[in-house]
Amino acid sequence: GSASKGNYRHYMLKEIHEQPAVIAAALEGRLGDRSVLVESFGPQAESLFKQVRQIHIVACGTSYHAGMVARYWLERYTDVPVQVEVASEYRYRRVVVPEGTLFVTLSQSGETADTMAALRFAMQQDNYLGSLGICNVPGSSLVREADLSLMTQAGPEIGVASTKAFTTQLTALMLFTLALGRVRGMPEDEQATLVEELRRLPSLCSEVLGLDRPIEAMSTAFAEKHHALFLGRGAHFPIAQEGALKLKEISYIHAEAYPAGELKHGPLALVDSEMPVISVAPNDELLDKLKSNLQEVKARGGVLYVFADENVGLSEADGITVLHLPHIHEALAPILYTLPLQLLSYHVAVLKGTDVDQPRNLAKSVTVE
Ligand code: AGP
Repeated sequence: GSASKGNYRHYMLKEIHEQPAVIAAALEGRLGDRSVLVESFGPQAESLFKQVRQIHIVACGTSYHAGMVARYWLERYTDVPVQVEVASEYRYRRVVVPEGTLFVTLSQSGETADTMAALRFAMQQDNYLGSLGICNVPGSSLVREADLSLMTQAGPEIGVASTKAFTTQLTALMLFTLALGRVRGMPEDEQATLVEELRRLPSLCSEVLGLDRPIEAMSTAFAEKHHALFLGRGAHFPIAQEGALKLKEISYIHAEAYPAGELKHGPLALVDSEMPVISVAPNDELLDKLKSNLQEVKARGGVLYVFADENVGLSEADGITVLHLPHIHEALAPILYTLPLQLLSYHVAVLKGTDVDQPRNLAKSVTVE
């Protein structure tokens, strides 16, 4: 009912604004002084994590995007090779499972049919060490069936478009990265830095949510458009994918995401003044590359909207709108940069008058195939 929406017009907006609190909840009790508490993943986690030589991550939709981000983190910080796949593909093919592979699955609901079928399929294969389920619903099928589980602590998510479930999944996946890193000899100072940065994350998120008004103003440029292109590099490519999915789901605007470096291999042909381009450009080592991609868009008359680190030398010009986000450690930037994309989709959908919390044709939890 409307009472539980509080002062918010939609559940989605309420859930977007809950993110600082639920990210803090996802961290609660799981951080030591300078490292992650491995036992947060269960009493057998340490012995299991020690044997991990390979990881397969399988999920659907937004949960799949979270898995995609985790691949960048896990390979960067734990040296473990990672594969990520959507559940509906994974479960219908022959999968080669090297010895020592951990199966990781993510689901907000813990009841998604393809995800559950993938978990059951995986557990019938040889060579998997076991399974880890990252989930938001206690007592769900996923939590009951996975060997290890970690709850995301986002609280009930009512809006069909996933928001706080995603950022708490990412938080949980960073905890997993640090827990696995810890048992596999990740340098202690690197662990300590990321733990410290995680503690600052909720307040940085609150700061970014303060950009609601300028993002609302930006949304007017999208309401009449039929297409949009989202660009990102590295771990921000899956964030661009998630931004595109949100826009499609609730505003019904066709949106695609590309790794920025792929632009000139095709999608650049689509760019004109009718196709806004949204880019997430935090201050990482790929920034210079991204800047030249953005020039390519501008040179074709494309209209650009860039979310960038406050320290990035990008400024407003003709055809380019820049919104600055507070500086954050590059590893955690994918979590922070998700927020403005959620707000953008939300405001575009409100302008278009769609049913934000119950978009057409979609169900909150896809429990049938
Ligand atoms: C996200 O906005 C979607 N509604 C959808 O992609 C969702 O993430 C997907 O169906 C997976 O759901 P789950 O996390 O409950 O398994």
